[in-house]
Amino acid sequence: MSPAPGADTPDPATPDSATPDSAALDPKDLTAAQAAAELERLAHLLPRLDRAYYEHDAPAVTDAEYDALRRRNLAIEERFPRLRRPDSPSLHVGVTPAPTFSRHRHLVPMLSLDNAFDREEFESFVTRAARFLGLDEDRTRALRFVAEPKIDGLSISLTYEHGRFVRGATRGDGTEGEDVTANLRTLKDLPHTLKGPAPALIEIRGEVFLSKPAFLAINEAQASAGQKLFANPRNAAAGSLRQLDPTITARRPLSLFAYAQGFSSERVADTHARYLDRLRDWGFTVNPLSKIVESATEAEAFMDDIARERSGLEYDIDGVVYKIDDLALQDRLGFVGRAPRWAIAWKFPAEQAITRLTHIDIQVGRTGALTPVAILEPVNVGGVIVTRATLHNEDEIERKDVRAGDLVQIQRAGDVIPQILGVVPRKEGDPPRGAPFAFPHTCPICHAHAERPPGEVVWRCTGGLTCPAQVVERLIHFVSRDAFDIDGLGERTITEFHADGLLKTPADIFRLPNHEEDIARREGWGALSARNLTAAIRARQTIPLARFIYALGIRRIGSSNARLLARHYGSYANWRAQMLAATTIGSDARLALGSITGIGGAIADELASFFLESHNLATLDDLTAMLTTIEDEEPQSEGTLSGKTIVFTGTLTTMTRPEAKAIAERLGARVTDSVSKKTDLVVLGTDAGSKARKAAELGLDTLDEPGWRELAGLPPA
Ligand code: IVH
Repeated sequence: MSPAPGADTPDPATPDSATPDSAALDPKDLTAAQAAAELERLAHLLPRLDRAYYEHDAPAVTDAEYDALRRRNLAIEERFPRLRRPDSPSLHVGVTPAPTFSRHRHLVPMLSLDNAFDREEFESFVTRAARFLGLDEDRTRALRFVAEPKIDGLSISLTYEHGRFVRGATRGDGTEGEDVTANLRTLKDLPHTLKGPAPALIEIRGEVFLSKPAFLAINEAQASAGQKLFANPRNAAAGSLRQLDPTITARRPLSLFAYAQGFSSERVADTHARYLDRLRDWGFTVNPLSKIVESATEAEAFMDDIARERSGLEYDIDGVVYKIDDLALQDRLGFVGRAPRWAIAWKFPAEQAITRLTHIDIQVGRTGALTPVAILEPVNVGGVIVTRATLHNEDEIERKDVRAGDLVQIQRAGDVIPQILGVVPRKEGDPPRGAPFAFPHTCPICHAHAERPPGEVVWRCTGGLTCPAQVVERLIHFVSRDAFDIDGLGERTITEFHADGLLKTPADIFRLPNHEEDIARREGWGALSARNLTAAIRARQTIPLARFIYALGIRRIGSSNARLLARHYGSYANWRAQMLAATTIGSDARLALGSITGIGGAIADELASFFLESHNLATLDDLTAMLTTIEDEEPQSEGTLSGKTIVFTGTLTTMTRPEAKAIAERLGARVTDSVSKKTDLVVLGTDAGSKARKAAELGLDTLDEPGWRELAGLPPA
């Protein structure tokens, strides 16, 4: 693996595969096709933002924008549950850990939190939880929550064996993080041994952070040493904790608040509030502002109190976490996707800021789309310096009539990328405005002619692979996670290798092993990292067809369409032959292509135009001479009910239907509504009617509720 994976920092203003139209639309206005494209775009964009944030400690967007993207993904998935992708960001958190630390597998996954932005969203969190638990109104009203400031640092998991600190790890991808034990030992807030009795094995979760004064001091030291400045305390904390040399960490005054539990070999409390007391007794620092609240009204009042105190606090917070106090209820509620059902992060409202737009830049994406980007005078919006915002397209610039030199209002939340709300009204005596922006009709990178087809909003460079912007973007796409996923070939490495002539076409990637020695001599490389790169490349010379097709970066062929094509055509040779035949309009092959469910005419047209270009065929042939494509990989899942189909029928008395379904799914089962030959197990509640009869007729396995509890590993009710 590469020693320096390269800044995989995405540009927030670079559009991915979705059309700018679908990226700008409200989730409720999307068609299914637009929703699929948008989910695909988000499935790629969010991990890139995660990498920028976690691996490079250099956020590419503000937190509010990031949250808005996550919420958008969820909102679209809620409307189109069938379009949820296996690689959906709602199912994953964070990133795969960087290679430099050894990996540590958490005993209980470290997850994230869903967000609320107002009282209504908080109330619907409570309603969801109550409904899941089947609580009546009185019991819902009796729910208590612990409110804790949401610390803006990085979460860590601390393992104690018989009261001794043995291991500490970052969150990583939620399942596995980086082992930063040695660094954590240098923290003054970290008890090396727990005071008083403790379980044999326990994981304690908390947040490592830097106080605001410590952050300023570190940045001053960085500046005088001529080193890069950290954007905010959180990134400085992450950078400080993830030092390979613990003596550097020791010089950074990192703090730690403990706030949650992971695995525990025995129960240590029955409520979260009492758990926090145990943490204090053991010697941890627990946030002193934590408080019990008993209603949405109290939660809202707490938000106001904390918002007032926020600027005077020694550390950055970005909201308040509300956790259901009763730990038995927490256990029953469990998790959905990446977040617990028993907690919510109520975030402070998004902020707006005013700054000057210095000029408008044009970016060229992988597919040649020319995207206008507003270059702004740097402005601090909620702790992150914003310098750019997207303007989407030519029409948007005209609609908003933004011009170089204008003061503009920018918004941090509620939309996809840093957004320009509009031009600030001018006052009398202001100097005259600049001229309206003239959208270029040539590509600013390769100077080829640009086109805006009738009915479309996007100008596109016609330079194809002769346009360096498109080549580099395409290469980056080619090695991205859902494509060839080559370890050690990040954005920066690709850009550098391209600049030095090592990489011109995707096929050149597979010729890099011939240059291993040259690579080993490059700055930042060495024999080991060059050898690792060679190995990573060779490992990918056998590739599932779907990944291969996706990697080609054909317009509108995202990974789900690539999977459809791979499944339909089976082999590369067959796909290639059929695509060539499909270049003829009206041919059987073209009709067959357009009638694959999920593909359709517009996508068939894109494929045909790709195959009509002789240089694309040359690229394909060059590549496939060095590769073996294989059939699709099937997703594997583990769990005691893995691959089983279960039906619940009748009334369950010890849990609600959604709870039963969630438990079954956690164990790997698929839960369906109707009984058929394909059903593996039917769980019969009381008054199970026709479905029970049908199960008996078909001779299916059935269980009553106690049997189901036993199968699921739950104690008898
Ligand atoms: S509880 C299962 N409590 O917020 C979730 N998290 O957006 C357990 N965070 O990953 C997390 N302060 O890094 C919890 N008082 C607090 C927190 C807190 C900050 C962070 C944590 C988490 C992220 C989720």
